Amino acid sequence: MQNTVTPIANDTFIAMFTHDLKTPINSGIFALEMLLKDKSNNLNDFQKELLNDLLNSSKYMKRLTENALCKFKADSGNLILNKEICSLKTIIKNCIEETKYILKDKNQKINFHCSQKEITANVDVVEFTRIVNNLISNASKYSAKNTEINIKLKKINHKIYFSIQDFGCGIKMQELDKAFDKYVRFANNQKSAGTGLGLYITKLIVDAHGGNIKINSELQKGTTISFSIPE
Ligand SMILES: Nc1ncnc2c1ncn2[C@@H]1O[C@H](COP(=O)(O)OP(=O)(O)OP(=O)(O)O)[C@@H](O)[C@H]1O
Ligand SMILES: [Mg+2]
Repeated sequence: MQNTVTPIANDTFIAMFTHDLKTPINSGIFALEMLLKDKSNNLNDFQKELLNDLLNSSKYMKRLTENALCKFKADSGNLILNKEICSLKTIIKNCIEETKYILKDKNQKINFHCSQKEITANVDVVEFTRIVNNLISNASKYSAKNTEINIKLKKINHKIYFSIQDFGCGIKMQELDKAFDKYVRFANNQKSAGTGLGLYITKLIVDAHGGNIKINSELQKGTTISFSIPE
């Protein structure tokens, strides 16, 4: 295992942490709501009460993380990468599995295409997971119900190429160069909650891995975000 250190503000570190709690918390909320709604479960009153308690505490947790995100002010710190050789294919599959309740709610489908049987790279598993979760969350959030999301992974000449394509609302061409800025949110997201940190954090992590990230988007057609990192 080898460590690399990239300067990162303290507020950003805490914001990253709380930001990423949102995906698993939201998945839990969706799963509990589905269980409670499904009449075929024949839950007794005690079981319903337990599930409702769990649902309320999950919603409370969601509020806490959202509040924490708003509170932090600048200070200095470091983004420390704990890199190890790991299977990117497995990490991506796990991320897709983790977001299944969110996708189910909008009846969206992820197609994952990996060019090789196995693709490994020297990455920080936690941070790489964060990247993939952020990008899946955006692709789903900014796309309509019943749409598909395409994720591709390939390795060419010791370089990893990842892309995620959605067929959602897209971003105006004039706004694209600000997409990776901190706290930036565009007019296309009026119906969805967010902090404008997801893409900022994503770029920070890709850069720390010595990679490059880019965005292509067309209004009302969709968005593709691609990044490459050294293996
Ligand atoms: N796939 C996408 N399709 C369309 N617009 C997008 C997409 N991804 C990001 N955006 C736009 O870029 C903005 C910034 O995205 P970012 O992920 O940084 O923040 P967010 O999704 O608003 O909030 P969060 O911090 O919860 O991720 C979004 O508010 C949205 O306007
Ligand atoms: Mg986001």
